[in-house]
Amino acid sequence: MLKITVLGTGYVGLVSGVCLAETGHHVTCIDNNNKKIAALKARKIPIYEEGLEALTTKNIDLDRLKFSTNLIDTLNESDIIMIAVGTPIADESTGTVNLNYINECVSEIAKLLSKNIIVIVKSTVPVGTCDNIQKRLDKLSNFECVVISNPEFLREGTAVYDFMNPDRIVLGSDGREKKTVNQLYSKFIEEGTKIIYADRRTAELIKYASNAFLAMKVGFINEMADISEKVGADIKKLSEGIGSDKRIGSKFLNPGPGFGGSCFPKDVKALVKLVSETKINSNIIKSIIKANIERFEKISKDIMENVQECNTIAILGLTYKAGTDDIRDSPSIEIIKYLIKHGRYKIKTYDPVGTENCKKFLSDQVEYYVDLYKACTGASLVVIATEWDVCKKIDAVKLKNVMKDLNIYDLRGIIDKEHFLKNNFKIRSIGYKQNA
Ligand code: UDX
Repeated sequence: MLKITVLGTGYVGLVSGVCLAETGHHVTCIDNNNKKIAALKARKIPIYEEGLEALTTKNIDLDRLKFSTNLIDTLNESDIIMIAVGTPIADESTGTVNLNYINECVSEIAKLLSKNIIVIVKSTVPVGTCDNIQKRLDKLSNFECVVISNPEFLREGTAVYDFMNPDRIVLGSDGREKKTVNQLYSKFIEEGTKIIYADRRTAELIKYASNAFLAMKVGFINEMADISEKVGADIKKLSEGIGSDKRIGSKFLNPGPGFGGSCFPKDVKALVKLVSETKINSNIIKSIIKANIERFEKISKDIMENVQECNTIAILGLTYKAGTDDIRDSPSIEIIKYLIKHGRYKIKTYDPVGTENCKKFLSDQVEYYVDLYKACTGASLVVIATEWDVCKKIDAVKLKNVMKDLNIYDLRGIIDKEHFLKNNFKIRSIGYKQNA
């Protein structure tokens, strides 16, 4: 089994570290945030992610998982150092990626290294970054460092499952150290997971292309939902109809308020930057973000058409999707911001786990409730913005007793329409004619 040091305990770093320990390796996760590391040592997980706490506790107890703030503690005992620090957008208008955290890691590794090592880059980085890291380490260090691009495809909310059950593992390298890296993923290789060996640039581009393609698929089905509403078609049947074609695939065909999260918007913007830099003629990639922003506006306008000024709107769901407390680039928040800017409404909100994060952004511009029905009390319109289970199971009778006007706008197509129609609700659901 290998000794691995993981730099960064964000989503990717923490989940990768914990899951690699679960596959039998000895892992130390490093972060320069003292508070976070102290909490992790005490088995407190800083993110809401199903199954992560149990696996962390299990692997700490098995002595395969450690946390530290000092790279020097483990670097020179490790076979592999994995870089999994954040690569946020530095400039929204140009899509430039901030590589400061990556560069700091590289300098630190070069400074402290006293043996040969494999450097795996898990963070999503612009094409050419791993080649540059290789060049820098060749220059700065007296030891042999082999840099490998190994993008991660896990989704928030199902991160542990995704890491443990990958569709493929992408390894971008110059061909050195294949044996050790295969050892890193031996559990997956034995189970038959497809390993894609590529050069570093291709591996880096695969990550951007995957996210952009999926974002485009979401954008496409959202436009099909709009067409369905106009012509009286059924979007769920349409998704099933096209998704059953194996060339298309059934996943990522759920229409909604647009995509959000920490990856799709950031990675598509970075790809648009690459399009500009390479001066290629792109219509498709460039339109993905534009269409998504216009979607937030369209939905916000639809909401405003359905409720008069000064009335109350209840927004159910603040996170960008269910299963996470992450509100980064959440469509729900974008819609709320639009409503605040362009209308005069009282906005009441409910989310099972995202409220605390949301307060940091919207503070007292909206009201927050821990009870879904209290959030809906007095509302003229209830908007279901996130596909939480609790939203799927809303009781129309209970809702009817607290709302002012019986209007519901289902942005995720999850409510039991029959149940609401029986209780005299006026329903609008994405991809269907009103009340259909
Ligand atoms: C994404 C990628 O899926 C993952 O491979 C990558 O590593 C990180 O980015 P994540 O951001 O966790 O993962 O969320 P994902 O489940 O992919 O959803 C992204 C957005 O698309 C969400 O806002 C979601 O609501 C939306 N979406 C997704 C839809 O609107 N419809 C769909 O059918 C699928």
